[in-house]
Amino acid sequence: MFITFEGIEGSGKSTQITRLSHWLSTEFDLSPVVTREPGGCEIADKIRAILLDTANSAMNEQAELLLYAAARAQHVAQIIQPALEQGRVVLCDRFSDATLAYQGFGRGLALPLITQINSLATLGIVPDLTLLLDFDPEIGLTRARERNAITTGPDENRFEQENLDFHRRIRDGYLLLAAAEDRFCVIDANGDTETVAARIQTIIAAKLQYGQAL
Ligand code: TMP
Repeated sequence: MFITFEGIEGSGKSTQITRLSHWLSTEFDLSPVVTREPGGCEIADKIRAILLDTANSAMNEQAELLLYAAARAQHVAQIIQPALEQGRVVLCDRFSDATLAYQGFGRGLALPLITQINSLATLGIVPDLTLLLDFDPEIGLTRARERNAITTGPDENRFEQENLDFHRRIRDGYLLLAAAEDRFCVIDANGDTETVAARIQTIIAAKLQYGQAL
């Protein structure tokens, strides 16, 4: 099963992925592959560094879109597809929906074009479940900026430097995507880590109960 996490900056995706992975290991004896985009393998990590570098503020929207697609194509072929073929559960921090949200709703590139490029990069792989951690962009952005100042330094902040309107468009875009497809579950990401983790576990447990093998 392929589960992706989506949401604006500072919505708590990474923390929740780690917790879900731990819960799946302890409760269900599964050992999920945990990965992320952009990145997840050596070549895609190098592309990530280019994409997020604040020194690259001159990058144009088309170049940005194609770099995300290039990173995804490598990551899918090298990590995600083989893991799914081996029957592993894959938890991925962002995937193709992020490109629709950020490059589509955020930058204004055409959604059908992005969908086409995504289908090339993903080899047609679509998540079985997408957990959208919905959160207020103003609080999320402040949280992400504070965290990045401590952990990643100034170099991975190109998107944190975008204004609040950009992040509001992304949040609204994600909600539109979620309304259009059944594979999405929108999670209220307000509350402490345990509360949000419990919401996610309820959804996964319900899926297991209805016989959807993880
Ligand atoms: P992260 O902060 O979740 O690691 O993601 C890095 C940034 O890349 C984040 O600001 C969202 C952005 N992004 C896109 O713009 N398009 C994409 O397709 C992906 C995967 C991420």
